[in-house]
Amino acid sequence: MKNRVTISLFATGLFLVVAGQSNGQAISTLHPENVIGSERCEECHKEEVLAWKASTHSRSNNVHRDAKTKERAAEIATKMGIKNVNDIPAHPLCTECHFTRQKTTVLKVISGVSCESCHGGAKNYRDVHGKKDEIPDRAERQKRSKAAGMLYPHETYKVAENCYNCHIVRDEKLVNVGGHKARSDSFNLVDWTAGELRHNFYDTSYERHEKENLDTRIERKRLFFTVGMTLDLEYSLRGLASGVQKGSNFPFRTTMGKRAYDIINKELPAVIAKLGGEGAAPKELVEIQKIGKGTKLTGDAADIVKAADAINAQIEAFSASQDGTGLGAIDAFLPKNPKGTPYKP
Ligand code: HEC
Ligand code: HEC
Ligand code: HEC
Ligand code: HEC
Repeated sequence: MKNRVTISLFATGLFLVVAGQSNGQAISTLHPENVIGSERCEECHKEEVLAWKASTHSRSNNVHRDAKTKERAAEIATKMGIKNVNDIPAHPLCTECHFTRQKTTVLKVISGVSCESCHGGAKNYRDVHGKKDEIPDRAERQKRSKAAGMLYPHETYKVAENCYNCHIVRDEKLVNVGGHKARSDSFNLVDWTAGELRHNFYDTSYERHEKENLDTRIERKRLFFTVGMTLDLEYSLRGLASGVQKGSNFPFRTTMGKRAYDIINKELPAVIAKLGGEGAAPKELVEIQKIGKGTKLTGDAADIVKAADAINAQIEAFSASQDGTGLGAIDAFLPKNPKGTPYKP
């Protein structure tokens, strides 16, 4: 671990953060250099910002102060060797998931989980993606914004991998020693985007309708379901591979292994069967199942990581090639218990 020089700026509510990754936790695509903060979205996305402010994410930077979580936070911190609970916002073990980090001259935390945690650091796309006058062609706006780091909602896989990067913990010590949850219970992309997270203020022709926060269209829910399930498998495998302690006394590997097993052997086969079986279902899903079944969950970490990488490539291809219209056969599987209450304008 890097030298830990932390200067807390309590007066401003800002904390300098030590650069560095927590053990085993990796691959967030959000670079603090590109972060500008949710306030910079407000000018044009007032309702989205209000929805966000009403959500748990906007308060995740209070995990060590909130009455509901502070005792657990102190407990986890102590077990992880973080001496003062007020050091949590400056500790690389916690900052990647509970905070948004920005780097200008120094690295600091600026908020809880924010717009850019899911849509990408906006420094280079903020003033490009909405320029309808200067760049009237929508495809061209998208192309330029993507090149500048924007993660568009229609790129299901790219937005959703952020959720799994945070909601599945891949640090064995944080779970086995710290007592942190290994993963959010029953996390699924359909329900967890349909409740308090919901902020849909555009219609299909990208006109704004600020009076109503629309439910996600069914075609997109189908994609959320399938992409979410396969991402869950990928990240559970990565978790499994990063753990070494075996046995039911150690919840980390057990939790990851069980989730991967269930997806490979029950949930994904059920989806494939509904979509007409291996001959008719999208080829990427069939391939993911094959990779999963060919992976020894108690085997070599390097092999499990290889499987996760191969699955990742299939998910990306699946997400890019589908718009959900052809997946109607799985509608009966779509979860219907939104997590939290949607924001009402
Ligand atoms: C100056 C106005 C403006 C600002 C500031 C702005 N946006 Fe936008 N945004 C727009 C417009 C206009 C659209 C609709 C774009 C279109 O039709 O292609 C949009 C669309 C979006 C979309 C949906 C795109 C799609 O096509 O599905 C996302 C996501 C988004 N903005 C994120 C952000 C984030 C995050 C910020 C702050 C970092 C931000 N925006 C700041 C104007 C803005
Ligand atoms: C991999 C991402 C990740 C890391 C790293 C992480 N957390 Fe969390 N944490 C989460 C998520 C996601 C939740 C929400 C879990 C849920 O669905 O209830 C959470 C929940 C919590 C809670 C709330 C409630 C509970 O029931 O346990 C506390 C307290 C907490 N984290 C403290 C910490 C501390 C302290 C650290 C650093 C030592 C830390 N977390 C590191 C992702 C993370
Ligand atoms: C940067 C990390 C991060 C990302 C990315 C992220 N989350 Fe979270 N999420 C958290 C943490 C941490 C909490 C718990 C906050 C707390 O309790 O203080 C949380 C809480 C939530 C909650 C509230 C849970 C409850 O117990 O009520 C929902 C819903 C949620 N996340 C959904 C999502 C979805 C869906 C995505 C992706 C589209 C996502 N999150 C992406 C870190 C993240
Ligand atoms: C936890 C992840 C997460 C956070 C935080 C988040 N978004 Fe989103 N955003 C999404 C997802 C997922 C979708 C697609 C939702 C859907 O289709 O139902 C989306 C969709 C959008 C859209 C398009 C909505 C539409 O009607 O087509 C805009 C605009 C947007 N987000 C802007 C923002 C802004 C601005 C913020 C911050 C105030 C923000 N988002 C915070 C994940 C997130």
